[in-house]
Amino acid sequence: MKNIVILLSGRGSNMRSVVQACRAESWPARIAAVIANRPDAEGLAWAAAQGLTTAVVDHRAHADREAFDAALAAEIDRHQPDLLLLAGFMRILTDGFVRHYEGRMLNIHPSLLPAFPGLHTHRQALAAGVQAAGATVHFVTPQLDHGPIVAQAVVPVLPGDDETALADRVLAAEHRLYPMAARWFVEGRLALAQGRVRQLDGAPQLLWDGGLG
Ligand code: GRF
Repeated sequence: MKNIVILLSGRGSNMRSVVQACRAESWPARIAAVIANRPDAEGLAWAAAQGLTTAVVDHRAHADREAFDAALAAEIDRHQPDLLLLAGFMRILTDGFVRHYEGRMLNIHPSLLPAFPGLHTHRQALAAGVQAAGATVHFVTPQLDHGPIVAQAVVPVLPGDDETALADRVLAAEHRLYPMAARWFVEGRLALAQGRVRQLDGAPQLLWDGGLG
C-alpha cells in the first residue's frame, strides 16, 4: 500500500476527486493525511467528515517560508508519503522542500502549461484569445508551475466564456485528470527519464473534452 498525502488551501474539490477515485477504484494506496495551511479550508472539513486523518500547519504561525516549510515537511513525513499531491495549495515552496519530495510530488494547474503559469490563469487565457484551454498535472520542480508534465486535459474555449464559465469547464476536466495521474503513480506506471515523463503501459497522457471539434 502506498501512502498519499494531499496538501490544500481551500475548496478541495481536486482532493475529493482523488479520495473518491482511490476508494472506488481500489488503488494500491491509502490517503494517509490531508493537510492544509489554513484551519478554515473547506476541503479539510470534508476530509475530516470522511474519517481521513487531517492536520493544519498554519503559515501565519511561522516567521518565514523556511520555518513554515520545515514544520510542514515534519507533519507530512509523519505519514511516510510515497506520493505528495498539491491540490490547490496556495503557498510558494522553498527549493529545499521541493528537493526533499523530488520525484514524488505532483501538482495540478488549470492551464495547458507552459502557458499561463501563476495566478488568474483563466483571465490570462481569455485575454490571449486561445481557443483551447485545459489542465496540467506535473512533477513539482523549484520553478512555479513548471516541471515534467505527466498528463494534460484539453477543453474548448467557447464564445461568450467568462472566467467562471471557463474555470468550471476546466475544473470538470481536472477532476478526471488528477485521479488518473495519481493512480498511474501509485501503480508504478510512470517513469521519469531525462526530465520527461513516460506512461509505461501506453495509456494516453492527453484527455480531450468531447466538445472539441
Ligand atoms: C484548481 O483549479 C487547481 O488546478 C489549482 O487550484 C484550484 C484548486 O481547486 N491549483 P480545488 O481546491 O481543488 O477545488
